[in-house]
Amino acid sequence: MAQVSGELTAAPESTTVVVIGAGPAGMTVANLLMRCGIDCVVLERRTREYVAQRQRAGIVETRAVRMFDSWGLADRVLGGVPYDGILELRVDGESHLVSDSDGSEGLPARLCPQQILVQKLTATFLADGGDLRFEAADVSLHDLAGDRPTVRYRTADGLPHTITCAFVAGCDGDHGISRAAVPDGVLTAHAVDHGIGWLTVLADAPPPAHPLLAVSPDGFAAHFPRGPHTSRYYLQCPPDDHPDAWTDTRVWNALRTRLADPALTPGPITDREIFRLRSLVHDPMQYGRLFLVGDAAHIVSPMGGKGMNLALYDADLFVRAVRDHVRDQDDTALRDYSRSCLRRVWNDQEFSHWLTRTLHDAGDDTDSGSFHRGLARARLDRLFTSPTAARAFAELMTGPDLTGTT
Ligand code: APR
Repeated sequence: MAQVSGELTAAPESTTVVVIGAGPAGMTVANLLMRCGIDCVVLERRTREYVAQRQRAGIVETRAVRMFDSWGLADRVLGGVPYDGILELRVDGESHLVSDSDGSEGLPARLCPQQILVQKLTATFLADGGDLRFEAADVSLHDLAGDRPTVRYRTADGLPHTITCAFVAGCDGDHGISRAAVPDGVLTAHAVDHGIGWLTVLADAPPPAHPLLAVSPDGFAAHFPRGPHTSRYYLQCPPDDHPDAWTDTRVWNALRTRLADPALTPGPITDREIFRLRSLVHDPMQYGRLFLVGDAAHIVSPMGGKGMNLALYDADLFVRAVRDHVRDQDDTALRDYSRSCLRRVWNDQEFSHWLTRTLHDAGDDTDSGSFHRGLARARLDRLFTSPTAARAFAELMTGPDLTGTT
């Protein structure tokens, strides 16, 4: 303890990296740093229980599985089941199976719900002696442009803490404080609002044989596995629609119609919310000793399942760059972090945007949408009939291997 201007504070601390946020990005950074023998402190504002139950993405794609495997972590952090890489696109009730297999060797993708990955990353980090602090309040970042930034926060009992470090990993998502700590004028935000709303529903209902995306004149719908007895559904709706307008009966009727599955088995709905499909990229992804990782830097339309996987790639690149600095006094990768990440970010943004537009425009029966409907149907026809187009789609689903050329 120490007294600073009359206020009781914890003794000042120091570490190499302070990680803000304990979601997929933060806990991947923390575990990879641990594997490098680089000390870090993770500050998470919520409780462990809250973070552990937050349900989001569901597929750890092939490249990300292989990334964890390259760090010797795949067996410890990847729950769920191997994914056969088959995706079903159902257009006006007609089923088309596409594969994410790009012919490369190695471990396949996994159907691993995000909360399972985060729970396992957290357990692994703590089991290995990691310093993870939940309920960290009022986190603030200082001296980011210098060589020794300072992070301040309060513990749940209100006691102020100060940690000096070499780097700050901003893993606190789109509504965190890291990006907000960057001075005005440094970051450029590239944003698009797709003008589309999705009602997302979580239910204790049988998962589909394959992740299912459906095009119908009534609008887009999707059905994803989220565990042996749990399903995630999406229903296109007006962006300003309200969840209360969707009774259980309306939800299941709309799903049966749009999925062209009259025998769809319903189940108790445990969560429902509506969100707008939007995409956002902040450039650059770093400022001084602050490095933005995952949703803190970019938001991608959920259509391609890229949000969580991009967070994992950013984490891998950031830790490799810090390792080069600590082990070899080489800052090349740190200087190049943003450019390297943004190459993949824009690649995945393009894929997600293409898939979002294609699967929504193809079902747009309005007069104003007829031209884009024709374009979207042509893209789908090419995907279903051209082996080359299918291979290109598979590579984008898998996660292109851009590491060799950054
Ligand atoms: N101080 C400390 N922790 C914070 C703060 C703060 N001021 N603000 C946010 N956090 C924490 C949140 O409580 C959350 O646990 O940071 C974490 C951010 O996690 P995510 O939002 O999941 O972001 P990320 O780790 O980048 O993962 C991206 O999560 O939201 C999904 O769709 C997204 O699948 C993608 C993935």
